[in-house]
Amino acid sequence: MTIEQKRVLQTSIPGPRSKELHARKTAAVAGGVGTTLPIYVTQAGGGIVVDVDGNQLIDFGSGIAVTSVGNAAPRVVDAVQEQVAAFTHTCFMVTPYEGYVAVAEKLNELTPGSFEKRSALFNSGAEAVENAVKIARHHTGRQAVVVFDHAYHGRTNLTMALTAKNMPYKHRFGPFAGEIYRVPMAYPFRWPTGPENCAEEAFAEFVSLVHTQVGESNCAAVLVEPIQGEGGFVVPAPGFLAKVADWCRENDILFIADEIQSGFCRTGDWFACEHEGVVPDLITTAKGIAGGMPLAGVTGRAEIMEAVHSGGLGGTYGGNPVACAAALGAIETMQAEDLAGAAKRIEQTMRPRLEALASKYDVIGDVRGRGAMLAVELVEPGTLTPNAKLTGEIAAACHQQGLITLTAGTFGNVLRFLPPLVIGDDLLHEGLDILEAAFAAKA
Ligand SMILES: Cc1ncc(COP(=O)(O)O)c(C=O)c1O
Repeated sequence: MTIEQKRVLQTSIPGPRSKELHARKTAAVAGGVGTTLPIYVTQAGGGIVVDVDGNQLIDFGSGIAVTSVGNAAPRVVDAVQEQVAAFTHTCFMVTPYEGYVAVAEKLNELTPGSFEKRSALFNSGAEAVENAVKIARHHTGRQAVVVFDHAYHGRTNLTMALTAKNMPYKHRFGPFAGEIYRVPMAYPFRWPTGPENCAEEAFAEFVSLVHTQVGESNCAAVLVEPIQGEGGFVVPAPGFLAKVADWCRENDILFIADEIQSGFCRTGDWFACEHEGVVPDLITTAKGIAGGMPLAGVTGRAEIMEAVHSGGLGGTYGGNPVACAAALGAIETMQAEDLAGAAKRIEQTMRPRLEALASKYDVIGDVRGRGAMLAVELVEPGTLTPNAKLTGEIAAACHQQGLITLTAGTFGNVLRFLPPLVIGDDLLHEGLDILEAAFAAKA
């Protein structure tokens, strides 16, 4: 059933039926699994999420950058329905099937680099990152992994160690996996000597820290998000990633791009590292790959991926046939509907309005991002002091008006926007109107 692409508020947000369900949630579900906006969903499609009270909210979150092709996208639904009726699981490691192979072929074709590649499929982003590290360690015979400030790579034990932020991701969950080393990110807005020096100085610091504290010859890989996601949509200073990638090559260290949030057309190209002309040795994908079904991948140079012995990689559900069918439907949608182009058009609509907002409200210190992965960072006016309180208030005001927005950032002071790439222009503008009204009321 298609959903009218229209915001509708029938009740306050959340409405009474959502509140009832939320009371059940609180009594039944572990409190550690938090909820940003407790409206209970019955349907979603295009740029709209429908709740149990009949409200229709504008979606600027895409379930955290997942439903890039839209929720219940027709090609995804058809592919899943056909697959689920044929067979649901055999385990690819026991008796394989074509869908897995076809997704691997697509990943090998679409990811940057014209060399021969191989892929392996998993269930979640964190699992893909864990496996990329396993493969890098196995191939190089080295253990150390270098990661960045503000990084987010997941919530499993190894990926907690790779993730930077303590609360809520790591607090009291240690001890963490060893041989992980953290270096500063080239974060232009917060670079002490100014954005113009950021790429150069951050690179010099990176080289020095790895040399003095890790040792190049102990280093298996450098793992980086080409645009940082949970860390606050930090776009590394132009040129920084290319310098790091070149340095990795000179030192036989693998460059792993975590494109789990930034990949699959989100930033206006298939992968965000393409904007910087960077070709990773390994690349991790998840989220947008399968239109909402759980699927993740590691793709990389054949000689690296093939280093691991048979049976060394895998898992019961990794590359589940239904998730693979969904991925093929999602990728076909991205190609047929030019969703990379759509992400660029979303930026053309959103960025000028966000910049206009920034010139009106001096609490907005920075507007950044790429494609349909955009954010504003809120500060105390004229300073770099994070303004998390106002960020939360603006997000809450948007929610009450039926706009799903998310926050992010190490300091909790970033409003991030991740609309489905199929959202219509009217909804995009209406969402921005709501955001502007929230600033007018709260800032
Ligand atoms: C860049 C990045 N890496 C890894 C992950 C972990 O993915 P998952 O939540 O599917 O385990 C995320 C999730 O937000 C992410 O944004």
